[in-house]
Amino acid sequence: MTVNLSSLMSKYEPTKLADYTTFNLKTMAVIHGYPKGTLTRPLLLVGPPGGGKTQLAKLLAAEMAPDMSPADIRFVDVSEDPSVKAIRSVGQTVQLFARNTRNLRAVILDEVHEFSTPAMSALKGMLTKYPTTDRGVFFVMTTNHLSGLSEPVRDRCLVLEVPATTVDDVLPMARRVLDGEKIPYAVEDLRAALTKDSSGLATFRDMWGVIEDIVTRMSMP
Ligand SMILES: Nc1ncnc2c1ncn2[C@@H]1O[C@H](COP(=O)(O)OP(=O)(O)O)[C@@H](O)[C@H]1O
Ligand SMILES: [Mg+2]
Repeated sequence: MTVNLSSLMSKYEPTKLADYTTFNLKTMAVIHGYPKGTLTRPLLLVGPPGGGKTQLAKLLAAEMAPDMSPADIRFVDVSEDPSVKAIRSVGQTVQLFARNTRNLRAVILDEVHEFSTPAMSALKGMLTKYPTTDRGVFFVMTTNHLSGLSEPVRDRCLVLEVPATTVDDVLPMARRVLDGEKIPYAVEDLRAALTKDSSGLATFRDMWGVIEDIVTRMSMP
């Protein structure tokens, strides 16, 4: 089989919350608290692109109950449908039976700042109806700009900042992939390749780009 980026991503990307690496104490508290039921409010993940917000939202939703079924999780890409219709359809889904022992449905609203003004107020209504997971719905939302959300929506959420990642955050993952594929490299070269500029910032997307370059070069005659 040809090794390419998508095969590598499906092989190495985190598939469980336990694989999600973070050094951030607040993020750790969230990862622990929601599945356990000590945190119950709608969760809003805020941060720059590539920091792992969508990834975290999906992993968290899938582990809200020990027996959470994919059918209990609704993923909405808000940029695809920013209209109030999207919220209405979510309103219908959350009334369906949950299939897990916690009797919980999870709704992921990805890029939630894209909602139109009427959709944003419909969302406020929805969060008022389901203010905590005790009402049977776990809302998890992601956004790059907190300012794109209405204040009543923000107020109803626990806001978790997912900070920009650095070369040090993504280097272990890059090494795991290259080691796993038995591709030789020098750590200092890899670090240099992941370093775009003097800021020291690097996203997981940047890291996958570097891996793709290395794999492509390896396959050249
Ligand atoms: N902690 C992590 N460990 C490994 N890969 C990660 C991690 N967080 C994100 N990624 C990967 O980085 C890429 C970007 O993550 P994503 O969740 O889409 O970021 P965001 O939604 O913040 O823009 C995805 O391919 C994702 O699987
Ligand atoms: Mg995202």
